[in-house]
This record gives sequence, C-alpha cells and structure tokens, in this order.
Amino acid sequence: MQRRKFLQSLSIAMSLGLAGLRDVMAFARPKTAFHHGVASGDPTARSVIIWTRVSTAFAVDVEVAWQVARDEAMLDVVANGVFETGASRDFTVKVDVTELEAGNWYYYRFTCNGQESQTGRTRTLPQVASGAAKFAVVSCSNYPAGFFNVYRDIALRDDLDLVLHLGDYIYEYGLGQYATENATALDRVPEPQGEILTISDYRARHAQYKADTDSRAMHARLPIVAIWDDHEFANDSWKDGAENHNDDEGSWVARRDAALQAYFEWMPVRGEPQGGKTRIFREFRWGKLASILMLDTRLFGRDMQPNVGNDVTPESVGQALQDANRRMLGAEQEAWLRDRLRKSNDTTWQLIGQQVMVATMGPPDLEPLIDRNAPSYFAAEQMDMVIASSKSHRPQILDVWDGYPVAKADFLQDLGALASNPVVLSGDLHTAMAANLVRFPGDEPVAVEMMTTSVTSPTLSGYFPSREPNGVRDGILQQNPDLRFLDIEDHGWLCVTLTAEECTGEWNLLNTVHSRDFESRLAKKLSVKAGQVGKGLT
Ligand SMILES: [Fe+2]
Repeated sequence: MQRRKFLQSLSIAMSLGLAGLRDVMAFARPKTAFHHGVASGDPTARSVIIWTRVSTAFAVDVEVAWQVARDEAMLDVVANGVFETGASRDFTVKVDVTELEAGNWYYYRFTCNGQESQTGRTRTLPQVASGAAKFAVVSCSNYPAGFFNVYRDIALRDDLDLVLHLGDYIYEYGLGQYATENATALDRVPEPQGEILTISDYRARHAQYKADTDSRAMHARLPIVAIWDDHEFANDSWKDGAENHNDDEGSWVARRDAALQAYFEWMPVRGEPQGGKTRIFREFRWGKLASILMLDTRLFGRDMQPNVGNDVTPESVGQALQDANRRMLGAEQEAWLRDRLRKSNDTTWQLIGQQVMVATMGPPDLEPLIDRNAPSYFAAEQMDMVIASSKSHRPQILDVWDGYPVAKADFLQDLGALASNPVVLSGDLHTAMAANLVRFPGDEPVAVEMMTTSVTSPTLSGYFPSREPNGVRDGILQQNPDLRFLDIEDHGWLCVTLTAEECTGEWNLLNTVHSRDFESRLAKKLSVKAGQVGKGLT
C-alpha cells in the first residue's frame, strides 16, 4: 500500500522536476493534528491500551508512530511501533501495548506526518498488592448540560491511579431534547444538532466529547476503565431495544451496531470496532488487593423494563416484577460473574463496577414534601401521577435492579455466598448515594454499594423540588433505612480508596457545572472494613 503510494508520487514528480517533487511530497503528507487528545485504558499488569485520533483533510490512510517511555521527556522508550489508520475506523488509533512491567507509570505519545500529539500518562496494574489503590468513579457526562468540571477536578489530583467510568459517557439527544436547555448559553450545542442515529452521527458525537478540554486533561493524565450505560446507544436500552428508539428511526440492531462501532473506535477499551460486539463485561486484577469486575446491565442480557406501556399493563406489572425469567445480566454473564467471584478469594476486595442502582429505594409520600410551585422536569400531570404512586411506597424506578427483583435477589445471594468483601459501584441515577445491601429487610448486609452522581446530567432535585430544604432527600432516607448517604442536588465524583484493611468512599461534590470556575468539596466519607462487610458502612 505504502510502496504503491510512493511510486505514484514519484511518477508524478518525474514529470514535474525537482521543485515539483518537493511539492508532491508535501502534498503526500497532508497536514494532520490531534484535536481529540490522547487517552489510555484497560490496563493489566503487563499491558495497556493507548488511543488517539488523527484529524486530516484527506480521506487517505495515514501511518501513526507511537512510543511508550518510562519518563515524561520520552527519552527512556520501552515500546514503539506504527499503526495505520483511515476512514474505515474514523482515523482513530488504538494500540494494545504489551510486555510492560507491572505496577509502573508510563508516558506515551503519537506522531503523524511530523505532528506530535501531547504526551499522555498511564500505568499498569500491580502484580502483587502494595499499599493503597485510589480510583475516581464517574458517570453521566452530558456535554450540553454543563462543563466537565468533574474531569478537571480529577485531572488536578496527583494521588489517583485509575478512572472508572460507569457509563453515559455520551448522550444521544439533539438540541431541544433532554438536558440541552443551557447548551446554547454555554456554547455546548450538541454535534450533530439532532438526535444521533447513524454511524457518522455517533462518531461526530464521540468526537465532540473527546475534543472537550477537560475531557482531554483527564484522559491525558490517567488510564480509564469504561463500561457503557444506556445513552451510548439510546435511553433505557435493553438487549433488544430502547425507550428512546422507535421503528421510524430504523432497525434497533442497525442503530446499536453503529453505536457499538463508534464506541470501540473512540474509547480506549480493549477490542476492535467490528461485528456488533456486545460483550464488555471483564475483570481487572489489582494484585492481591482487588478483583475489579465490570458488568453490563444494559445490552448483553437485560430483558425489557417492566414499565407500564412496555409489555405490561397496570394489572400485570406486579406479576411481571415477580417473573423469574426477567434478567438483568443474562444467563451467560451471571455464570461468568459467579465463576469470577469464586476465583476472587485470593484478593481482599471484589469491586463490582456496574451501571444501575442495586439498593432498594421506595419513595416516601411525596405529597407533603414537594413544592408544586417550583419548576420541575416533570409536567404537572406527570407530577400528579408520581405523587399518587409514591403513597404505595413501592419502588417506582424500574430501570434499575428494583425492576428485576428476582434477578436482584440472585445477584445478592451470589455476592453473599461467593465473595469475601464485595463493594458494588453504581451510577446512572444522577444521585450520590451509599447503602448497605441486604437480602431481606433487617438482615446483615451481604455487600455495600457506593453510587457516584452525574458529571453534568440533571440531578434528581430538578424533578423533585423540595418544599423545605432537603425535605425530599430526608424523606427518602427515612423511608429506606439501609441508605447511609444521599445527595440529590449536586454533580461530582466518587473517590474509592482500597487498602488491605478498608475500602473508603469519598463523595466530592461541585458547586457548579455552569461556569468553569468551580469549587469541589468533600461532602461525605464512609468506609467498610475488610472481613466486616456484614457490619456495613460507617
Ligand atoms: Fe445518565
């Protein structure tokens, strides 16, 4: 391929003379740039994925040289190579760098046609446990809803090892749809402007997110382990469809596969963008300290949410909830999880990274708590219905594990029986929360859950304005005694620190995402001790 291009250039140049040769060679090396920064992810003890994307005016393939070094000045190079990319993969570059040393920090950069990328920093995982591990846990980064101050806050820290992104890394909506009311004022109008449906749409949306300065800062600084939630595809997706997908938008499988291809092109996850690959559940090992099990509660095996209007009626919803065949993970992923939990007994912690809330959250009677005169994302009739149904105290959000109570009981049973110290991480709900996970009310916890709030997506308080300050939050806490912490107001991120003795969650909340000037505060700190998960969070 390269040889043919060279001969073509040479034959044109011979007819132009030497000055022409210089022009042709300049032309044959189109100007390139790295507008989307660099990223790394899916580290193991010996390998890590490094990623970038080349911007070029011409649709011809380009060669991208890459280097990995022990030092930031890129003098002590330990691995290098060349990656050819082109239009078939949207000019993304993804290299699985192998044969690295365990537990080391590395630096990496790319070069294309004389242009150098910025230098990124990444690391491999330790083979044996040593000291503490510190992870930033994030979810729900919605570009038009605000600035990615959370990413900036994470990039500014110098004590983190890894970012765990639990999904909703992008959102599919167009201008005028969900969470875009401030987009124009913030100069964060979604690209393309409409809802994304095709491969070029999903690619353009990923490109917009990756070009964000705060996203670039975080990715250049730390490796990421990412799983998708629903909005990488469409709202409330499940294995055969999504709430925000209908037939006049084409087939679900075609849309899902377009989204998958763009995801595997644009994310530093292991795996190539081909063949409608839906398997993303996978394990990482932090020496003997932790087994990190990342799950997919969305695409791989989830049955349709039992919401009235899906395949259930008001009369049959109770029966649907008790249907043992309605699964969240699907049989294959459940078997994989059980196997991994059994084999994780040589690690102190089992960190279960997944998307949706596990703890039960029954609503309080909302009638005395809600300010009906305050603005809400709910229309008045919706609010009437929400308030009326809150009086039953039965869980109302059925897109989370509460909508799959039989599968949830099996999940908790497996955690209790097979894991030594399970800590479940979740996102998706735009709420900061911590809970003891019990199989039956009053039981000892079998695991604990730490939920990170959104990077920018609207938080629950925008739906449930309180009559008294924190009235709704306090009502939810009173109704659900296993919840140990709840914040429904703020954006932020969760810092998880693991040592041989304890696992600590620190909820860092921001005062704003509507200005680049922000403050971050430590709002809550809770720990669970190794060997004492039954005592819960303190
Ligand atoms: Fe979200």
